Amino acid sequence: MKFFVDTAEIDAIAELNDLGMVDGVTTNPSLILKSGRDILEVTKEICDLVDGPVSAEVVALTADEMIAEGRKLAAIADNIAVKVPLTWDGLKTCKVLSGEGQMVNVTLCFSANQALLAAKAGATFISPFIGRLDDINIDGMELIADIRTIYDNYGFDTQILAASIRTVNHVTESARIGADVITAPPGVIKALASHPLTDKGLDAFMADWAKTGQKII
Ligand code: G3P
Repeated sequence: MKFFVDTAEIDAIAELNDLGMVDGVTTNPSLILKSGRDILEVTKEICDLVDGPVSAEVVALTADEMIAEGRKLAAIADNIAVKVPLTWDGLKTCKVLSGEGQMVNVTLCFSANQALLAAKAGATFISPFIGRLDDINIDGMELIADIRTIYDNYGFDTQILAASIRTVNHVTESARIGADVITAPPGVIKALASHPLTDKGLDAFMADWAKTGQKII
């Protein structure tokens, strides 16, 4: 399973990238706002830093304008994935840009039917939002499982990019179901390393080691 990091914060991306944990990056208008950076500048920096796909989202609402924005974003670097919303205009944009050989990430997906449409429109990635479904008492993981089944039934090669990941359990469940990619904030990716028994075990080893009076270096 590939790990994308869901942020436009360069330092956080660089830290995880140095560990080989970053297979790509996803951004959205809210994350650009949070970064305080210019979208074109920060996206270029991210593309230079990371080898994998970097999702940059259009903000127009009509297909013609989305296509123009998508082409401008795509010109930033070869590893751009143009991110479009799951609307009819977004699907039209997906069809046109994917037909030009451009990677497209269709975002704001909340149903299996929406995911089916995105695959038929040639999406490279479909982004179902787990956390936002959980927020309204709908099981986000069930959506990931449904999309996995449907894509496998028909051999769609659109990659399932599990998004709106808020917890380490969302990551585990996505991996168990067979999502192709997860995108998560840096804090969630770092939290994957944590376990209370690891901390407890390390404390005990340190205490015993101190009693030996030895040093390795
Ligand atoms: O990748 C989409 C993600 O940024 C949305 O996450 O937590 O705002 O629902 P969240």
